[in-house]
This record gives sequence, structure tokens and C-alpha cells, in this order.
Amino acid sequence: MSLNTIAINGRMDTFDGHHQVWLFGYGSLIFKADFPYLERRPASIGGWTRRFWQGSHDHRGTEAAPGRVVTLVPAPGAVCHGMAYLVTPEEFAHLDHREKNGYLRLAVDIGFEDGSSVLGLVYIATEDNAAFLGPASEREIAQQIAGAHGPSGPNREYLLELASALRDLGKPDEHVFAIERHLAGIA
Ligand code: SIN
Repeated sequence: MSLNTIAINGRMDTFDGHHQVWLFGYGSLIFKADFPYLERRPASIGGWTRRFWQGSHDHRGTEAAPGRVVTLVPAPGAVCHGMAYLVTPEEFAHLDHREKNGYLRLAVDIGFEDGSSVLGLVYIATEDNAAFLGPASEREIAQQIAGAHGPSGPNREYLLELASALRDLGKPDEHVFAIERHLAGIA
């Protein structure tokens, strides 16, 4: 996939001069924190909902058989729950590389469980990126996930680890859980 968001993300200057930034994770960033962080807290952002609508050609699939991973789509009134990490700007190079297949940094208000909030960062793959696959039924999504495998492992593992992490957080997500149920029925 030709789109690579590293250069665009490198030009984002919202947090220039900050020594620490909160990063909100809603997908693999919940269950796979492969970067150092100063603090980690359950958190949420408003107006977005999690969907398995982004193609993965580099981590959980290939060019020939892309997998499906989550992105956020606008949903007025919705709340997306996940995990926030306090990181130093030195981590952005690694994060930009990890999320390079279509994800752009966006500044958002991140809410914590104690009612406080802070302006932080989230990686979102919008519908105009080249790897965006868009909606499909949860059954079709499960079928695609069942057949996809990439350098980071089976696509199935991404789905199952995300579902398990959301259960551990106590934040059920019916879209994710419905795909998980369909996947259980596929050998
Ligand atoms: C995220 O987890 O916040 C972004 C999507 C992903 O890497 O799975």
C-alpha cells in the first residue's frame, strides 16, 4: 500500500515544546504497549466509535490478503473507551512508524475516570486513506479476519486480544464482540 503517513504525522506541531503527551489507544495500543510510558490510565474520548474498517497490509495481513484492524469513525454522542499512556515526544517516531498504514495523529480531549480531561493525541485512519476498507457485515469482517495473517501475526489474534482487553477494562464493545462470536464459528 503506497500511503505512508509518517511524513504527514512528523509535521504535526500541536504538542511542540511539550515534554509529556497523553496518547489515547483504542485498538492494539490497548493490549500491546511496545514503548516506554510514564503512566497508563483507562480513558475515553467522545464523538467516536471503534470499527474494524481499516485494512492492514503491513501488520495483520499482506498486500494480497489484507487484514482488518480498528479505526475510529465519527459518531455524535458515542463514547469510545480505551487506555491512555503518558509518553515523552521521543516515542513519536516509533508510534508513527507503527501506525504508518493510514493513521494520522489527531489532537482530542481525553477523559479520565475521575472526571478530569486533557488535550492529547490519538491515531485515526480516516475514510480517505488508501488502506480504508469501510463497512461490511460483522460476519464478513470475521471471515476476512479468519483468513488474514501478517508480519505481526494472525489477524484473529488482534481481534481476540482486543476483545479480551476490553473485557478486562470492563468496557464491552458490541461491534468487537459480535465479530468475535462469528469468528468462533469459523474453523
Ligand atoms: C490504536 O490502537 O489506538 C490505533 C489502532 C491500532 O494500532 O490498532
